[in-house]
Amino acid sequence: MQSQSPSSRPAARFFLGIVSAAALLSMGSAGAQEPVQPIVPHKVTNPAQVTLGKKLWFDPRLSRSGFISCNSCHNLSMGGSDNLKTSIGDKWQKGPINSPTVLNSSLNLAQFWDGRAKDLKEQAGGPIANPGEMAFSHDLAVDMLRSIPQYVAEFKRVFGHDKLTIDEVTAAIAAFEETLVTPNARFDQWLKGDKKAITAQELRGYQLFKTSGCVACHNGPNLGGNSFQKMGLVEAYKTDNPAEGRSAVTGNDAERFNFKVPTLRNVELTYPYFHDGAADTLAEAVDTMGRIQLGKKFTAQENADIVAFLKTLTGDQPRISLPILPPSSDATKRPQPFD
Ligand code: HEC
Ligand code: HEC
Repeated sequence: MQSQSPSSRPAARFFLGIVSAAALLSMGSAGAQEPVQPIVPHKVTNPAQVTLGKKLWFDPRLSRSGFISCNSCHNLSMGGSDNLKTSIGDKWQKGPINSPTVLNSSLNLAQFWDGRAKDLKEQAGGPIANPGEMAFSHDLAVDMLRSIPQYVAEFKRVFGHDKLTIDEVTAAIAAFEETLVTPNARFDQWLKGDKKAITAQELRGYQLFKTSGCVACHNGPNLGGNSFQKMGLVEAYKTDNPAEGRSAVTGNDAERFNFKVPTLRNVELTYPYFHDGAADTLAEAVDTMGRIQLGKKFTAQENADIVAFLKTLTGDQPRISLPILPPSSDATKRPQPFD
């Protein structure tokens, strides 16, 4: 912008001075001390790796059927989830658990509802070889990629060596997933000092979210993702879903029914809710949380206020142009969707 320098316009400089002092003050009272922080946009350090990871993310040939890609269950057109109670895997198998969003998942302390994968790279190997998801094996996935000359060349370009193993595959996918952050939600604009970014009702909802105790578990930039907590702290949660949570990983019975607190970022887009996908609407999820985590029954107005607040957490969705995938070669093993 070609504007006059502030020093040539004393009034403007005075005004700017007031604005920045006010901004600082509001940072002090509403920024730094809030239990929630804005999402920081991701800086890509290795664009070639991200581009390759994006191809792998969308490539259904990493599944036995040749039909299921990461994007099938974490649809980036739908908040990085599938909006199903539980996912559908190879041969239309009913999945055991709700698919969490991949948006902002790089901010989580661990991956999966029970945290059994320590990071995105470790996680990415899981679904490929999971018989109920992509039903392939790491060897078959690597064989498939090695049979496609354009992939071989691209892996070599990106990693600087000829080794094409599951390690390079998961590293590239993780690099792509790290770009899937959603900054600039209206609530983040508010946190950064734009007091008009949210309405009075949404602000009431946020205050209630704080004073009722939701922030004890849903805090930090991801409003969750940073601890494992018991589902049903005050009142037991009733479900037919057999998932037992953290104790399945640690073997510690005291951690039974502890789940990774899900992020509330983009929660408006990631219905249905909870690990069993039992809550169809945000109103229902908020009502259940109030009851079983805090022993609190919200009025209809309070519930609506909190839901309104939660909807301010929808950020800029990643803008993704569909990658064009290299064609299979004559040597590529054919997909097996029906046998
Ligand atoms: C058939 C559906 C399906 C496919 C295909 C699938 N996922 Fe998932 N994904 C899930 C489900 C269900 C979970 C939760 C499983 C659990 O917690 O036990 C999950 C969990 C995750 C998580 C953890 C998120 C969190 O907050 O804990 C990440 C990251 C992820 N998947 C990435 C991927 C990648 C990368 C691929 C492709 C290689 C992939 N998924 C393929 C269904 C799927
Ligand atoms: C004691 C910790 C704790 C408190 C307090 C808490 N939550 Fe949760 N919240 C969780 C856990 C754990 C889950 C995931 C439970 C599951 O699916 O088994 C969850 C899930 C949710 C979900 C569903 C997200 C999704 O993607 O499935 C919403 C919405 C939610 N909480 C909102 C709230 C609100 C609003 C409050 C306050 C009224 C609140 N929570 C209080 C721990 C907590």
